Amino acid sequence: MAADDHEFGGQHTEIKLAIVEQYLKRYSAALHTWCDHVWYIDAFAGTGKRTVRVKAREGDLLEEPVPEQVEQRRGSAQIAIDIKPPFDRLIFMDMRHKHVAALLSLKAANTHLDISVLKGDANELIQKEIAWDGWKRTRAVMFLDPYGMAVEWATLEKIAATKAIDVWYLFPLAGLYRQAARDMSKIDTNKEAAITRMLGTDDWKTELYSKAKLAPTTDLLGYLDSDDTLQRNADVGALEQYVKRRLKSIFAEVLDPYPLPVVEKPQRFSLFCAISNPSAKAINLARSFGSDILKSTGRASRHRSGR
Ligand SMILES: C[S@@+](CC[C@H](N)C(=O)[O-])C[C@H]1O[C@@H](n2cnc3c(N)ncnc32)[C@H](O)[C@@H]1O
Repeated sequence: MAADDHEFGGQHTEIKLAIVEQYLKRYSAALHTWCDHVWYIDAFAGTGKRTVRVKAREGDLLEEPVPEQVEQRRGSAQIAIDIKPPFDRLIFMDMRHKHVAALLSLKAANTHLDISVLKGDANELIQKEIAWDGWKRTRAVMFLDPYGMAVEWATLEKIAATKAIDVWYLFPLAGLYRQAARDMSKIDTNKEAAITRMLGTDDWKTELYSKAKLAPTTDLLGYLDSDDTLQRNADVGALEQYVKRRLKSIFAEVLDPYPLPVVEKPQRFSLFCAISNPSAKAINLARSFGSDILKSTGRASRHRSGR
């Protein structure tokens, strides 16, 4: 493996990046007609490329065997760099030294663009530095593509408060349903804190759980023992709807999320688009881009999977 190889994700990664790329193209073209400061912020930027292993295929009567191939494809930072018309500024954040070095090489290779590379925890950087007067004349798209449950609610609140940033957030639904065990007594304090940090409230305990009357059992002495335990009654769809309601409590608009992966079950992610600018113009624009793209990508991926 080369020093800057970054292998992550699966087939859903292609779809996620295709959706975000479509949005960036439309956003940049439309916003540049009236705004001079159109930015892209990638808070979990990676290296600008991703290493994909294409599995070996056995041969048969008709086809030669194909050995495993390792391909380098574009990651989100490179995709944003390639958008035309270009963003007026691109900000890439990552906390891994090796990834920051790769991002600095991307900056050096694209001196015609205004690129800033910030090393550090995206939550800290955003919470400390995103509040700014300049948002009155600047618009941005931000991509939140974390590993796991890394995005804190306080970070989302700061982004929403700018009223200028559209966010694409790959929400880790599998992280949530693994931490939020069916039986609430199985959730330890660390897991409880992680869920609350991600959702910004502990009302998930009452929204997602209810008392389940278990069939009464008898104890050793023959007494009836009917225990009421708190059970998660929310399935994957209900968890996703709950997350959407939470986002809607701080953003002006939240589009219906795109479930990922498309073919394999269970669903592991929800790709959300949240709009912080409350103006009708901004919301309508984002809705029309977002829903067109989500629909067309949905059709394309269903077609690929033969459904
Ligand atoms: C899934 S990868 C992002 C991939 C990228 N969007 C792409 O398409 O190439 C997540 C990245 O977030 C970085 N990361 C993880 N935790 C972070 C944090 N708290 N703050 C900033 N970066 C973080 C990792 O080093 C990794 O590069």
